[in-house]
Amino acid sequence: MLPVSRETPEPEVILAAAEVLARGGLVAFPTETVYGLGARGLRADEVEKIFVAKQRPSGHPLILHVDGEAMASALASRWSDRASRLARAFWPGPLTLVVPRAPSVPDVVTGGLATVGLRMPRHPVALALIARVGEPLAAPSANAHMHVSPTMAAHVVQSLGDRVDLVLDAGPCDHGIESTVIDLARDDEAPRVLRAGAASLDAIRAVVPEAVYEPLTVATDVARASPGLASKHYAPRARVVLVDAPHLVDEHPGLRVGAIVWSEEARALLAHRSRTVFTLPPDPEAFARALFATFYEADAAGLDLLLIERVPATPPWWAVTDRLARASS
Ligand code: TXA
Ligand code: MG
Repeated sequence: MLPVSRETPEPEVILAAAEVLARGGLVAFPTETVYGLGARGLRADEVEKIFVAKQRPSGHPLILHVDGEAMASALASRWSDRASRLARAFWPGPLTLVVPRAPSVPDVVTGGLATVGLRMPRHPVALALIARVGEPLAAPSANAHMHVSPTMAAHVVQSLGDRVDLVLDAGPCDHGIESTVIDLARDDEAPRVLRAGAASLDAIRAVVPEAVYEPLTVATDVARASPGLASKHYAPRARVVLVDAPHLVDEHPGLRVGAIVWSEEARALLAHRSRTVFTLPPDPEAFARALFATFYEADAAGLDLLLIERVPATPPWWAVTDRLARASS
C-alpha cells in the first residue's frame, strides 16, 4: 500500500504504479466513486489477471477508464451524438457509457459483447495514472466477486489481500457508490440505464430526456442485458434484511444482529438496546458515501444478520435503493 496525495499526486508514486502495470501487475487505485482494480486495458493477458484476482466469471464486462473523449471515441466503432453530449456533460465524472466497441478492444474486456463500457474518472490520482500509462485502464471495483465495492484502501486489502500488487491510498472516495451505467449502443432505441449510480437520473435526463430506467425487480433482474448486474452483488457476509423502523427491535435469538438506521424514530427505538447500531446520515448522498464502509465494518464485527431501515422511495435515493435491494436479495 502506497499513500498518495489526492489533490496533487506525487509523480514518483504515479511512476511506481505505472511500472507495476507495465510489468503486467495489478494496481488498485482510487476513483471518485470506489477503488478500482486496474490493468492495462488493451492487453488481454494482463486484463485476464483481474478476473483471476477477483474470481470474477469471464463473461462479465469491465469498464475501460479513459483520459477524455478522444481516447474514448477511439475505443468505439461508432461515437454517437448522444455519447458525445453525455461525455461533455458528465466527464470527468461518475457516468459510464456503453457504446459499440472498436476492434482494438479485447474480448476479455467486453465479455464477448459487441459493446464496451467507457468512463473518464474525476479523481486526480486515476487521471494521473491513465496519463502516465498513456492507455486506457480496465478496472472493475477492487473487491472479490459478489463482495462489497471498496471505498477505502483498507477495504481493498480486506477483500483481495495479496492478490493485488499495489494499492494506492488516497483516502476515502467522494461518492462511495459506483458510476451510473447507461447503454447507448443503439441509436434507434432510447438510452437505458443499466445501473443506478452516482450520476443522478435527473442530471442524465437533462441531457438525454428520453433515457429510461427500470428499477431492479426479480423480473428485470432475469432479463438483464448486463451480465455483471445480477442481483446478489454488493452484499456483506451477514444476511441483510430491509425493515421498517418498528421491526428493528425484533428479537432474533442465537444470531449476532446489527442494524443500519438513519431516521430519528429508529434511533430512538434502538437507544437502549444492546444491538450493534450503525447510524448513517439521512441525506442520500451522505448515506451512499458511508454505506459500503458500514458493510465492511459489519463484516469485521462478525454479524450474522444486518437489519437495514428502509430508505425513502424518492429519486435521490435511487442508487442506494438499488444497492440495498441487491444486498438483501
Ligand atoms: O464506479 C465504477 O463504475 C467503478 C470504478 C472503479 O470506475 N467500477 C465498477 O466496475 O464498478 P464493475 O466492473 O464493478 O462494474 C461495472 C458494471 C458491471 O455491472 C458491468 O456489467 C457493467 O458495468 N458493464 C461494463 N461494460 C458493459 C457493457 N459493455 N455492457 C453492459 N454492461 C457493462
Ligand atoms: Mg463491482
